Amino acid sequence: MSLTTDNLFPVHHEILNRQEKETLLRQRSVVIWLTGLSGAGKTTLAKHLETELFSRGFLTQILDGDNIRTGVNSNLGFSDTDRYENIRRISEISKLFLHCGIITINCFISPTEDIRELARKIIGKDDLVEIFVNAPLDVCETRDVKGLYSKARRGEIKEFTGITSPFETPRHTDIEIRTDQFSIEESVRKILDFILPRIVYNTVPAPKQR
Ligand code: ADX
Repeated sequence: MSLTTDNLFPVHHEILNRQEKETLLRQRSVVIWLTGLSGAGKTTLAKHLETELFSRGFLTQILDGDNIRTGVNSNLGFSDTDRYENIRRISEISKLFLHCGIITINCFISPTEDIRELARKIIGKDDLVEIFVNAPLDVCETRDVKGLYSKARRGEIKEFTGITSPFETPRHTDIEIRTDQFSIEESVRKILDFILPRIVYNTVPAPKQR
């Protein structure tokens, strides 16, 4: 199989552009990226956030590690290379939604700065809101919602994030949510306060706050 991009002609100037699609949807699109350990609460927050946004008339799409890895990324494991490829594909998918005017809420461990930088590069910093869903490892391990931490401790799962595979503390996030200290409602409120000014439709796209 050839991996060259020679002889390919990507279409960059579609007849309908992103702004026209945002106008149709009456919203500004953005990629909301939740990073954090397994069990930190990414998916839970994403579901509540989506419900809140939906009730305000926003169209969203959740992209979640366990779902994407059983579908488009079912051929990937948890080596450094596969995690990188996982995030590369997800970033490209997010960009498609972004240009379609849809807000994506991404729930991926995205464990290293390299991986997060890749997402920034593909999506573009101005279209990305990075949220560190932070719960200490011992809290995630005590929760052990999926029973994966005990399996990892027993050596039944290799390269498990936080146990036998690294999780680097994010350095460039827009928001940090301590899910061991705040309720789901408080956490979602904090995200909404940050996100709503950016996605509310008005004629001029809202500038990125940092
Ligand atoms: S990432 O590191 O490549 O960003 P991703 O978010 O897609 O990971 O997938 C993480 C999910 O896969 C976890 O929530 C967990 O349910 C499952 N999983 C299975 N094996 C592992 C592993 N070795 N490390 C981390 N998560 C794992």
